[in-house]
Amino acid sequence: MDDLFNTCLAGAESRIAELRATLEHHNRLYYNEAAPEISDADYDKLFRELEELEAKHPEFADDNSPTRRVGGTPLESFQQVRHLVPMLSIDDVFELKDAGVPEAELIDFYRRLQKNLGRENIDVTVEPKIDGVAVSLVYREGKLGYAATRGDGTTGDDVTNNVRTIRTIPLDLGADAPALLEVRGEIFMPNESFAAMNAERDEAGLPTFANPRNATAGALKQLDPRNVAKRPLAFLAHGLGAYEGPELPTERDFHELLDRLRIPRNQPVMTTATLDGLLDCVRRIDTDRHDLGYGTDGAVVKVLDRAEREQLGYTSRAPRWAAAYKFLPEQKETVLRDITIQVGRTGVLTPVAELEPVLVSGTTVARATLHNEEEIQRKDVRIGDTVLIEKAGEIIPAVVKVVVEKRSADARPFSLLEHIGGKCPSCGGPVAKEEGFVAWRCTNFECPAQAVSKIKQFASRKALDIEGVGETVAEALVRHNHCRTPLDLFTLTAETLGSLNLGSEEEPRRFGDKNAAKVVESLGRAREKPLDRWLFAMGIRQVGESAAKELARLHPDLGSVAQSTILQDVVAAAKLEAERKLVSPRNKDNPPADADEKERRQQLHDDLKARIDDLAAGLQPYRLSPDAGPVVAESVVEFFNSEAGRHVIERMAQLGLDPRSANYIPKPAEADSSGLPLAGKTFVITGTLSMGRDEMKAFLESKGAKVSGSVSSKTDYLLSGEGGGSKRDKAEKAGVKVIDEAGLAELLG
Ligand code: IVH
Repeated sequence: MDDLFNTCLAGAESRIAELRATLEHHNRLYYNEAAPEISDADYDKLFRELEELEAKHPEFADDNSPTRRVGGTPLESFQQVRHLVPMLSIDDVFELKDAGVPEAELIDFYRRLQKNLGRENIDVTVEPKIDGVAVSLVYREGKLGYAATRGDGTTGDDVTNNVRTIRTIPLDLGADAPALLEVRGEIFMPNESFAAMNAERDEAGLPTFANPRNATAGALKQLDPRNVAKRPLAFLAHGLGAYEGPELPTERDFHELLDRLRIPRNQPVMTTATLDGLLDCVRRIDTDRHDLGYGTDGAVVKVLDRAEREQLGYTSRAPRWAAAYKFLPEQKETVLRDITIQVGRTGVLTPVAELEPVLVSGTTVARATLHNEEEIQRKDVRIGDTVLIEKAGEIIPAVVKVVVEKRSADARPFSLLEHIGGKCPSCGGPVAKEEGFVAWRCTNFECPAQAVSKIKQFASRKALDIEGVGETVAEALVRHNHCRTPLDLFTLTAETLGSLNLGSEEEPRRFGDKNAAKVVESLGRAREKPLDRWLFAMGIRQVGESAAKELARLHPDLGSVAQSTILQDVVAAAKLEAERKLVSPRNKDNPPADADEKERRQQLHDDLKARIDDLAAGLQPYRLSPDAGPVVAESVVEFFNSEAGRHVIERMAQLGLDPRSANYIPKPAEADSSGLPLAGKTFVITGTLSMGRDEMKAFLESKGAKVSGSVSSKTDYLLSGEGGGSKRDKAEKAGVKVIDEAGLAELLG
């Protein structure tokens, strides 16, 4: 019985081993060699058989089984591993711009090799420098032991689970592997996969990556390998770390070993033994590298012979036997046909150059970002200009500069605001530039280009606190056309929400009825939320939490905010104040030319002052807090005056939404002064009187008068004491009655 059991067990063990080897073999044919020999269905059948056997026999579990490529539970954080041999970097030598010999630094490097080895001909290899993330793969007895990032060169992150998801990396090298093999190489994302992934993310409303390197680094930092498996990562080996096995006298022997073990390696690798040959090789790599399909930014030159490498030795940070020759990015001239405006997810308006298509660093470029209007002005970019294009980080096209010599007479300067007619090109909403920022933004709460971020803000805790509506749900709602604006949330039914697909088409994930019910309930509560929360939720520029509170203190409901005379007066007063400063005859930046102008401007100034005082007196009872100052008032007035703002009010009425203020304080009733002797009269005070100015002002006000700071057509009396010079002249000229304190006593009877 025991024997039979053992035979079965041995059978299972060998079948498991056989299946693992077979699956890895087909994996390699499929991913590394693009030459599959069996169908996907047959592969899946073998895979399932292995899964079942492994489940039945946990005693034969192995992390390097093909079933474990995407496995393991998400990590809390990465373990640190100490590198067996330090992971050094390489010294950069740069291609020089505008110099006689662009390769001067590279030539110096080769001359140093010649000098240090005391020979004319040094064998070196030349290969592309991959723009990726360095990793070390450690195989013991052929099995992948761990994979680690470079870290600080001495210790790095253990990213084994993440690296296992890369199908081209073998997990088991087979029987004739050396006892210890540390392979160093680069993890990267091929250009095409990168572009497809970015497009998909953009579609899903996720932030996109600036370049494949960042996307790769971001993927490797994921703690859940299932997330890594979705990223199209690739690996190529380029160096040897720790090693125990048959001698490898040259780099060529190392490459043969990699090929035999079927570890994918960086190619092409050229070999040369002369300086001219070296220059030839790097030039060839520079022209050919764009066809590789992944990012490269230079050529790595290494001494071929390992004994010679040891002889040359190391500096504290890099080997003396290697150099990374960094290419200048390729630049091409083309014509800028037009500038268009893109509205980003947060409402930022980005100008984009529409170009005559041109081949740069291996791909056709027809558009390039111009970042913002200031950048356009700084570079003096005009429509019709010939411009120089390069790919920043060899990926994202950018306009370097204008070729001014080629500017045609009809090249047109560009004004963003003029171009868009002052309105958001996506929704026609108002646009504004925040102080200290270079970018124009669309401020419309209903802008469809910003739907996701606006819905998120609208539903957030400090706004309307709509439970369950975060980034993912907002994205799904927009993607499936259920919402174009936050107010559309109020049209959703429990059914629509319940069957909302948060996943992809291939991997659907329902939002679910329970969650849907929660959202519907929250929406009901949101209807009753006070005005300040609604104002904050609408994301009107300048209206933060405290401004929203102050606005709600001043107004009973949204309609009154939209039509607010308080806010209109604040805006008007601020505008008059700016004007007053400008026309003041004491304005040092703009002094009056002669006495005539001085007098004219003084008059204008005093009229403005009087109007400002009037407005201030009207606003005074509200005791406005600085939280709703002119900047806030202007933004709110502008918003509700815009078509977009009017539409919000209309739409809310349709949806039966009428938020009320919870902290409204009606304007304190003005004391009834109609029975007082000076009711309706406006005074201006000047000169020295029997009491102080403030005292006199209070006294006059107690008798029902208004007191203003300067004489205007609205002034009824100038109360003048000793030496009331200029105001007196002015009053007399304007036909305003001038009285002294005796005259006042008479008026009061
Ligand atoms: S050989 C002693 N070859 O660039 C270091 N490195 O800037 C030997 N790299 O750390 C490294 N492509 O991560 C080598 N073909 C290549 C490379 C390459 C990219 C990376 C590598 C290195 C870094 C230095």
